[in-house]
Amino acid sequence: MKKDFISIADYSREEIEAIFNLTAELKNKVKNGEEHHPLKGKTMSMIFAKPSARTRISFETGMYQLGGYALYLSPNDIGIGKREAVKDIARVVSRYNDIIMARLFSHSHMEELAQYASVPVINGLTDYNHPCQIMADIFTVREHKGRHTDLKITYIGDGNNIANSWINLAAKLPLHLVICSPSGYEPDAKTLEYARAQNISNIEVLSDPLAAVRGADVIYTDVWASMGQEDEAAERRKVFMPYQVNADLMAHADKDALVMHCLPAHRGDEITDEVIDGPQSIVFDEAENRMHVQKAIIATLMS
Ligand code: CP
Ligand code: NVA
Repeated sequence: MKKDFISIADYSREEIEAIFNLTAELKNKVKNGEEHHPLKGKTMSMIFAKPSARTRISFETGMYQLGGYALYLSPNDIGIGKREAVKDIARVVSRYNDIIMARLFSHSHMEELAQYASVPVINGLTDYNHPCQIMADIFTVREHKGRHTDLKITYIGDGNNIANSWINLAAKLPLHLVICSPSGYEPDAKTLEYARAQNISNIEVLSDPLAAVRGADVIYTDVWASMGQEDEAAERRKVFMPYQVNADLMAHADKDALVMHCLPAHRGDEITDEVIDGPQSIVFDEAENRMHVQKAIIATLMS
């Protein structure tokens, strides 16, 4: 049976750690200039209903490095779920390609795509989650801290797709996860309930940023208005300003706390220049690791 990569919730701790091991191996090959073409002759369709820099570049480059070929389908190309039914696209693309990566608005469309595709489907972000991002994030933390468990990870900001994926990760790896959001912008309640019921991690939802950053190993933030929420940006800016990751907030955190952001960043909103460009920031290592982790995910699904 084919396996998809739609949510971290679908993977065991062992499977997640196997992906990290393969990521490290593939990253070494890139650093040593060693060619590695296990996917020679294989093709991947990349269906984008929203814009992207990192996701497109890292998947396309990664697939090329693996010896395969990736096709970019822009938001104007398919009109998935609008011009054509999701299940029809799933079946058509499966006739051409060996694997699909998609970035969609609706998470249920992502699930439908996976259900009707006969080839593996990788989720490159939905309104609900962004599993490839959080796999790259925790892999990056592991490189810097030497471990991927028993860390205090503080996410400050909107309880969005990034926050939901962190919660799904905490259902699998023992972490102290703090989500700090203003009232009304908390992460998905069902995801929280599910993750807490696994009894793996301590998962707190707080509203006070000063309390949230105390003793954190990682301070993570993301945009206040995600793709598709542009109309709410002005209103959200007012609500979220006290949640800005700036030098004042960082003064309450440990000196060696790492700062992360999935990017793109709205500099001056959720994070200030001095913090994102400062010595604690690892945002570009994080961006780089998208490619290495995703190559491991592709190779795992196609093995
Ligand atoms: N972090 C991330 O997914 O970036 P893009 O939206 O540019 O792909
Ligand atoms: N929460 C952001 C993440 C972008 C990678 C968004 O969905 O726009």
